[in-house]
Amino acid sequence: MQEPTPNTVPSVRDLASPAGLRDPYAVYARFRAAEAAGEDIGRVVVRYDQVAALLADRRLSSDRAGGILQPLDADVRARCPLVARTLEGIVAFRDPPDHTRIRRLLASTFSLRMVKRVTDMIERISTRLLDAVAASGEADLHRAYTYPLPAMVVGAMLGVPEADLDRFKWWAQDIVFLVGSGSPSERLALAAEGHFAEMREYLRALTARRRADPGDDLLSAMIAAADGEGRLSEDEIYSNATFLMTAGHETATNMLSNGACWCVSVGVIDNTCVCWYHLQHEGRSAASHAHNLR
Ligand code: HEM
Repeated sequence: MQEPTPNTVPSVRDLASPAGLRDPYAVYARFRAAEAAGEDIGRVVVRYDQVAALLADRRLSSDRAGGILQPLDADVRARCPLVARTLEGIVAFRDPPDHTRIRRLLASTFSLRMVKRVTDMIERISTRLLDAVAASGEADLHRAYTYPLPAMVVGAMLGVPEADLDRFKWWAQDIVFLVGSGSPSERLALAAEGHFAEMREYLRALTARRRADPGDDLLSAMIAAADGEGRLSEDEIYSNATFLMTAGHETATNMLSNGACWCVSVGVIDNTCVCWYHLQHEGRSAASHAHNLR
């Protein structure tokens, strides 16, 4: 993609350009300047008061799963029934009353007890990853820490066994590609259909195991809600387990890696640098350093 020219009216495509990926804040600033100058910036909304008003406006809908495959031919869409079914059950793509029902259920499982359990768990997983770095002597921050950590945490919250995480992450990634691409291709949609079929089989088996032997995890909580008062369908369990895995790991990995890049670029890297320096050069236990990376 071409680099944008800084003084022209920006487009959302500029965010996906090499310069936009390096520094999206510069693109946001151009949007704000263009809007203030009365330029036509299309359907982009940049002012807080406008964003707040739109979020509260009931005429707008989040029910956009159907639109994601819309650019494709009808025969291709007909060959992707599981893609449509998975996306349609996701809480972020529903309007009230479905959105309210699923959201309330998910929110009720994020209790204080869960947060405490997750805090201890993050510390244990983080220490384990950093100890592995210390043992090997050097590491790539993204590969060794920011990529695995969020998925391990969300996987543990959901109740996906650690040995299955890579497979599950691979399937869930299709949601990011499809939803994020803005213009899905036939190849992408058909590949996603195959992956969603495998993922569904996997979740069906895992759900059966948790139903017979519930654990202290989100999947068991979703099953209890589904079985108890019929508040969640089997499809919604699969869709939202997949969504939580995606929403919970991709976003956090990107934030941690981009945050580290930003720290390097503006020179506020001291803590991280010291931490990785100690790990690499002294091979000390990561426990005392883990807090520097949080
Ligand atoms: C840095 C990390 C994260 C970022 C930047 C982020 C960003 C977002 C954004 C922008 C949305 C709105 C999506 C839309 O409607 O288009 C969203 C929704 C959501 N996110 Fe995150 N997220 C992050 C981490 C997480 C984590 C760790 C979880 C759960 C483990 C999570 C669960 C959710 C859920 C359930 C929704 C849907 C809420 C609803 O529709 O009521 N997110 N997130």
